[in-house]
Amino acid sequence: MMNNPWAILVASVASLACTAAIAAPLVGARSASVATDAQATSAPAASATSEPAGLKDAKASDCFACHAIDHKVVGPAYDEVAKRYAGKGSTVVDKLAEKIIRGGSGNWGSIAMTPHPDLGQQKARTIVEWILSLKPAAGASAVAKSSSEATAKTYTYKKEDGKTVKLDFPVFVAGHKPEIVTKDVFTGYEQFNAYCNRCHGDDAVGGAYAAPDLRHSLTGGMSYQEFLQTAMAGRESKGMPSWAGFFTPEQIRDIYEYVKGRQVDLIPTGRPPSAQD
Ligand code: HEC
Ligand code: HEC
Repeated sequence: MMNNPWAILVASVASLACTAAIAAPLVGARSASVATDAQATSAPAASATSEPAGLKDAKASDCFACHAIDHKVVGPAYDEVAKRYAGKGSTVVDKLAEKIIRGGSGNWGSIAMTPHPDLGQQKARTIVEWILSLKPAAGASAVAKSSSEATAKTYTYKKEDGKTVKLDFPVFVAGHKPEIVTKDVFTGYEQFNAYCNRCHGDDAVGGAYAAPDLRHSLTGGMSYQEFLQTAMAGRESKGMPSWAGFFTPEQIRDIYEYVKGRQVDLIPTGRPPSAQD
């Protein structure tokens, strides 16, 4: 598993504030390529009262499992895509539509976009036109400010052996006796033991089909962002399915929190005590 510092940086910010545009610092670095393209000046879609067709189609497909408008998830932020291809002419629409249908990697990094053979050229083009109409989120400085305001919260727990662990999310509901896990962790437990256990083992202890013990993956330094990327993009050739379109990034986050809680030995095997009991 690659361990690139960019992914780790993204993970630490993305987990705090979903609205933070991680892309913001990059915006200034690349000089704006002349935006004479009429599309580049059309209104941002997010605030429109009637939803543009391209946005509707993107929502109906699995695009938002891997993309967000203003920050990197698994794939690049859509406003960064718009920025990169601004003023590149109309052939770029066909090229990008083709890329969405066929999938692939290389333009933004080594992670591959899954193919979308059923989307069709027409819809793919409509979505691309919507993406290219986006403008960087209302003032990069405003976004940068809000992301720096989001202070990292740390949750410290003492284990039975006296050791303490620090996490960036809560495992247990604060102040509740006896201890119960949060709704997110419990949801993660349920999803893991319904969909991931088949290969990664019940209670995340490792399992069959050469599927690794995910606790060891995290011990080995796998970040949340890398976990999310692998879960969404899959590694089809190695037997790891893509979960994009099936799970949202929030649901993968729940699963990650459950596995993390297991890895640091805060969550026992079996059904953890929760408000759902
Ligand atoms: C499994 C995750 C995943 C899903 C689902 C996904 N993408 Fe992507 N997308 C990526 C990744 C990763 C990249 C970067 C690929 C690269 O580096 O060339 C990307 C790149 C792109 C690009 C830029 C392509 C380029 O060559 O510059 C566009 C446009 C795009 N995606 C649109 C979409 C649309 C529209 C959908 C839904 C129909 C979608 N994506 C679904 C992961 C995904
Ligand atoms: C059909 C079997 C199968 C299922 C189901 C499955 N996985 Fe996997 N997964 C694998 C295999 C095999 C690998 C190892 C791929 C490789 O060798 O690179 C893997 C690797 C991973 C990795 C990367 C681990 C590492 O150390 O690089 C993550 C993260 C992961 N899976 C998450 C999940 C999650 C989350 C689920 C449930 C939503 C899930 N997997 C369901 C087979 C599966």
